[in-house]
Amino acid sequence: MTSTFQDGLHAAIIMDGNGRWATARGLPRIAGHRRGAESVRRAVEAAPSLGIGVLTLYAFSEDNWRRPPREVSALMRLLSRYLIDECDRLIANGVRLQAIGRRDRLSAPLVSLLETVERKTAHGKKLLLRIAIDYSSRQAILDAARNLKSVDEDALSQALGPDVDLLIRTSGEQRLSDFLLWECAYAEMIFTPRMWPDFSKADLAAAVEEYHRRDRRFGAVSAAQSA
Ligand code: FPP
Repeated sequence: MTSTFQDGLHAAIIMDGNGRWATARGLPRIAGHRRGAESVRRAVEAAPSLGIGVLTLYAFSEDNWRRPPREVSALMRLLSRYLIDECDRLIANGVRLQAIGRRDRLSAPLVSLLETVERKTAHGKKLLLRIAIDYSSRQAILDAARNLKSVDEDALSQALGPDVDLLIRTSGEQRLSDFLLWECAYAEMIFTPRMWPDFSKADLAAAVEEYHRRDRRFGAVSAAQSA
């Protein structure tokens, strides 16, 4: 049987520390975001070989609109650049891209680009790459609940997307920041001091290894203890 992304881990990453990485080097914050986009390329390329089937990246939160307009525009440009530059590579590598979050406040060209890349990569089976843009988990939960005829746990989970197995946040911060709140109910969390622009394939591999070392009990007792 051919393997698909449903067989792999769902890893989600809060990519934090771009600004501090740049400031520490006397560079403008946007230089950190630019380097952060390179880390995104590395993580996407490495994910399937590490057993990751779904990778959800927090690229722009609803709260990020409060940043200076120049930084917001630069982030939007970087997202567009990524989609334009990477589309062919995503297709060739079997990566399916999906954006999550609100689209009505994004520019028309960015929305159209997202739709094009989503359509062109729709047959990808190796990795589902979900990019959260103008995203708020509380809002996503409210929207999903409002759109359901009858709300129950399975229906809401189905509407929101796959549960997260492994949540990584870089830069030493230890918060969820309105990211995948429902989906992270049983996620293993790894907080690393590494700034996102420095996050390497080895860091991702180490996080996955740490995940496999953990004993996921989902509230029950471990297999060894129940014997
Ligand atoms: C958090 O660092 C990072 C962001 C708000 C933006 C993330 C964007 C990218 C990695 C680049 C583009 C994304 C893609 C998917 C191509 P911060 O600015 O809050 O850092 P700080 O806490 O050090 O200020």
